[in-house]
Amino acid sequence: MWHGRFSKDPSARLRAYGESVSFDRRLALHDIAGSQAHAAALGKARWLQPSELKAIQRGLESIAREIRAGKFIWREELEDVHMNIEAALTEKIGAAGAKLHTARSRNDQVATDLRLWMREETAGLVAAVRGLQKSLIGLAVRGGDAIMPGYTHLQRAQPVLAAHHLLAYVEMLERDAGRLVDAGRRADVLPLGAGALAGSTIALDRRFIARQLGFAAVSQNSMDAVSDRDFACEFLSACAITGMHLSRLCEDTVLWASSEFGFLGLSDAHTTGSSLMPQKKNPDIAELCRGKSGRLYGNLVSLLTTLKGLPLAYNRDLQEDKEPVFDSADTLGASLVILAEMFGAATWDKARMAAAADDALLVATDWADYLVRKGLPFREAHKVVGTLVALSGQRGGTLRDLSLGDLQAESKLFKADAMKCLDAMRSLQARTAEGAPSPQRVRARLAWWGQRLASAKS
Ligand code: ARG
Repeated sequence: MWHGRFSKDPSARLRAYGESVSFDRRLALHDIAGSQAHAAALGKARWLQPSELKAIQRGLESIAREIRAGKFIWREELEDVHMNIEAALTEKIGAAGAKLHTARSRNDQVATDLRLWMREETAGLVAAVRGLQKSLIGLAVRGGDAIMPGYTHLQRAQPVLAAHHLLAYVEMLERDAGRLVDAGRRADVLPLGAGALAGSTIALDRRFIARQLGFAAVSQNSMDAVSDRDFACEFLSACAITGMHLSRLCEDTVLWASSEFGFLGLSDAHTTGSSLMPQKKNPDIAELCRGKSGRLYGNLVSLLTTLKGLPLAYNRDLQEDKEPVFDSADTLGASLVILAEMFGAATWDKARMAAAADDALLVATDWADYLVRKGLPFREAHKVVGTLVALSGQRGGTLRDLSLGDLQAESKLFKADAMKCLDAMRSLQARTAEGAPSPQRVRARLAWWGQRLASAKS
């Protein structure tokens, strides 16, 4: 492509080191769409004859067909997706193909391709997030009013509905979807027309190009347009945060599926055995997904580091943007889909959950609230109940084994009805504030999510 200036061919090592076609071919159909819009603008400004424009459009369409059919021959010596397609076009249609690169550089071309790709990819990932939300809602509904211990410090803390625990992840995923939508919006700006960095003396109608490609806006600074990759950082950040949420969901799943907890059963189809221990049933999907948060974070840090300190405008370093971005999209997409499938087939062991939640210590706070309702300041109530917890511990029983006399020895405010506080369902039913886990609230939120997800476009 730069024969005019050079007298030697690039060394084989430079070619192998610098090529990007092995991975950026993934942008091919977007590259062709960008070229079609650019050609249309060249035609509109009369830099192409109608016959030349037609030849270019037909040539690009036939290349797109070859690519879709897997018949296109990619050549490493042509370096990247852009030059592969341009060379194939010129081979196909001759002289007119050589006019396509008028008023364009690979710098604005690659930025355009990546933004088009990202717009599409974020929409796909948002749909996959929705799929996982629906699967979690299904599992929550199958949980019904089943109670499990809620944990802090991984110590049993207070009873919650299993559905409430899952709905926490549905809320997180909703924010993740919002971040992906935002990343898609930020990418929705046309760089084409920025040229290498300073536009072109051959001015094209950029708004016309943007309309052809469905871009919401046109970039306002040519140097910014070719060197900015912050939209890709936002995408990687949205993927990393989603991956962090998935890793927490997976950690809960690993715990719940363990013999120690035994709350959740995973299908044989979504677990693996051990080559050595015949009794094992391992939650590999959850573990792998938890592990993959590492590469999602790594990809974000990788691109931020590549960009740090780069002078304006385009530098070849920017070619390093693609692999992290592709990897995050693939990793996150696959994780969302397989988790949706896994939770779709998972089953609760309600008896195990109920047994774990039956511990009267989980509702000890309700005794403190009982005393507060009778007028005792919370700090004092907390102390009274703490003493009773210690007493029942010394006796080797549970709070339920204490007598009314034991209670009244600590506070005269205790009456016979205090014992009723030690019921998990009763405790939950009293937690009625917005966002709290009373069964009524949880059912209402489940219904809300059911509607929201049935109608969600984004
Ligand atoms: N493959 C390059 C990239 O991904 C395309 C732009 C190359 N531009 C250049 N001036 N060498 O960034």
